[in-house]
Amino acid sequence: MAQLTSRFALLLSFVLVASPALAADWEGGDATKGENIFKRCQACHTVEKGAAHRIGPNLHGIVNSKAAAKKGYRYSPAMQAKAAEGLIWTGEVLYTYLERPQAHVPRSPMSFVGLKKPDERRDLIAYLIEAGK
Ligand code: HEC
Repeated sequence: MAQLTSRFALLLSFVLVASPALAADWEGGDATKGENIFKRCQACHTVEKGAAHRIGPNLHGIVNSKAAAKKGYRYSPAMQAKAAEGLIWTGEVLYTYLERPQAHVPRSPMSFVGLKKPDERRDLIAYLIEAGK
C-alpha cells in the first residue's frame, strides 16, 4: 500500500511538473490552412489592419484583445455585457467560443454555427495571430 501511494505521488508530481510544458489545446495550428478556413468568416469579417467592418467587426489583432473593443462597430448588448465582465479573446477562449459561438455568447447576432473540428479551430487561431501581426 505504501509503495502504491508513493508511486501515485511520483506520478502526480510528474504530471504537475510536466503539464505546463505541454502545448495547450488551441496552440500549434497551421496558419496557412487557417487562411482557408477564414473564408467562412469573410462574409462577415475582414482581418487586414484598418479594413472596414462588415456585418461583424474587423478582426485585426483580435487574439488577446478585449471583447467589443473595435472602434466604430456597434456591438450587441450581449457582447457588450460579456466585455463588461472582462472577456478577453485569448487563444484559449477563442478555441471554446468558435466551437459554438451562440452557446458562449447567447443572444449575440453572430449567426455562425461554429467549427466542430478542433484542428480547424487551431488552424484558424494560428491564422488570426499571423494576420494580426
Ligand atoms: C453571419 C455573419 C458572421 C460570420 C459568418 C462570422 N461572424 Fe464573427 N461576428 C459576427 C457579428 C455580427 C459579430 C458581432 C457580435 C455582437 O456584437 O454580439 C461577430 C463577432 C465576432 C467576434 C468578437 C469580436 C470582438 O471585437 O469582440 C469574433 C472573435 C468573431 N466574430 C470571430 C469570427 C470568426 C473567427 C468567424 C469564422 C469562423 C466568424 N466570426 C464568423 C458575424 C459573423
